[in-house]
Amino acid sequence: MRALWGYLLLIGLGLLIAVYISFQSFFTSFGFNLPKDEEQVGMKDQIVIKFSHVVAENTPKGLAANRFAQLVDEYTDHRVKIEVYPNQSLYSDQEEIEALQENKVQMIAPTASKITSISKKWMLLDLPYVFPTDAALQEALNGEVGEELLKQLNIIDIEGLAFWSNNYKQITSSKPIRHPSDFAGKHFRIMPSAVLESQFKHFGATTSVLEFNETFKSLEIKETDSQENTISNIYSKKLYEVQKYLTISDHGYLGYVVMINEQFWNKLPLDIQQQIQRAMDDTTKWLWIKSNELNQEQLREIRQKSNIDIYTLSDEEKKEWMDEMTVIYPEFESTIGTELMGKMEKIREKYLKE
Ligand code: LMR
Repeated sequence: MRALWGYLLLIGLGLLIAVYISFQSFFTSFGFNLPKDEEQVGMKDQIVIKFSHVVAENTPKGLAANRFAQLVDEYTDHRVKIEVYPNQSLYSDQEEIEALQENKVQMIAPTASKITSISKKWMLLDLPYVFPTDAALQEALNGEVGEELLKQLNIIDIEGLAFWSNNYKQITSSKPIRHPSDFAGKHFRIMPSAVLESQFKHFGATTSVLEFNETFKSLEIKETDSQENTISNIYSKKLYEVQKYLTISDHGYLGYVVMINEQFWNKLPLDIQQQIQRAMDDTTKWLWIKSNELNQEQLREIRQKSNIDIYTLSDEEKKEWMDEMTVIYPEFESTIGTELMGKMEKIREKYLKE
């Protein structure tokens, strides 16, 4: 009896689907179009680009990705749709580069540190106190240093479209960290980069490489007790809730490289490439200002809403940190390459003198 009802149900469903399909084709054959979502018009011609990233939307990268998507829509007259997936909703830090190379997503914007294992020259940007001012940073990234780094990506089938800035990194910890000697015995969460590992090891601290989205938990359960990040990342992930001390040290730079799958990029029509690059350049310029503003605004909010103890290094203390941290440079000279290191040193010295 049950089997009979099952058959009847299946036949009924089949009939319903058949009636629905013939109803649709009957109307369309007479030139009537069934109501359609406006956005669906021209969908088959629209180029969809999936852009995946790991941070929240109220961060420099999150805001820039959304702004870029809007500009691409505008500049290409809706011919290209950038679908932004924030907060690691598609892929984690560790998965996203492979997903890009396999064209499962077409765009990502990882921190420079996260590509150092596959493109070692990028370690340059992780060196502590590498660029003393924003102007030095811009001169490097917009000049030969940036060009050389982007060229490295082509070797791994990736096209680099831009450098997006977040800001300088600060230290949070369970204990006050004011002098390099205070690092001893601490256990830091770090991004995957040999430079960052060495930077802390040099001062007697230990490190664990953890994904961005694992950081809060790891500090909360005291698996690690310290970490370095920009204010916007400390703020958006509420790291100030699980750390007692924040030192404004500006000891390292955290920025992103916006990448697109090279084969996918090369197949795009030239006019589309030009409009995407235009949207990218406009977003990048806007972000240089916005990322500074956002980091400052969020530092004010951390001061207001949390009990974390905030200490800003004095100029003398910063000098002490810089002198002690930069001794690791020679360790990475051959990996990064003497030529590239030379170009960096030239810019560094010019701005240190100012
Ligand atoms: C981190 O892992 O701390 C950062 O790379 C996160 C990000 O993308 O800003």
